[in-house]
Amino acid sequence: MLSEKMLKALNQQINAELYSSYLYLSMSAYFQSTNLGGFAKWMRVQTQEELTHAMKIYDYVNERGNRVVLKQVEEPPSEWSSPLAAFEDTYRHEQKVTGMINKLVNLAVEEGDHASSIFLQWFVSEQVEEEASADEIVQKLKLVGDDGGAIFMIDRELAQRRFTPPAAKTSG
Ligand code: FEO
Repeated sequence: MLSEKMLKALNQQINAELYSSYLYLSMSAYFQSTNLGGFAKWMRVQTQEELTHAMKIYDYVNERGNRVVLKQVEEPPSEWSSPLAAFEDTYRHEQKVTGMINKLVNLAVEEGDHASSIFLQWFVSEQVEEEASADEIVQKLKLVGDDGGAIFMIDRELAQRRFTPPAAKTSG
């Protein structure tokens, strides 16, 4: 069984991951509306990834013999001024999520909950990837500025992204 504090924190993290999923779906819809199908595809895959993050915690809470309690998911923004603005938001959001994961790890250590500590290590590594992939796109978009042709090339590149379920990933 999880401690009450750990259970509450993990239930909150499920909510945060579901919000992330919702946020990226909103970004996908925004990109779709601006005819940037590749950017929209990238965000759609990100939506799926976030859902698997939520479900990973959901399954863990159940496995520990505790009860998942779902709360209201906050409404995400729906408009961005440019692809760069959306990806800067993505990067900032991932930094925030990293902070949340780190707090969860601290709590697990404080409580001597080794199982949760080990479980959360996957998320620690995942956040390094999450921040890096968002930042890479931010940097590219900064480099090309308003060059429509270059944005079109990035759009084509981002269209290649495919969803890989976490279990099939070599890293975890
Ligand atoms: Fe679930 Fe993007 O962190």
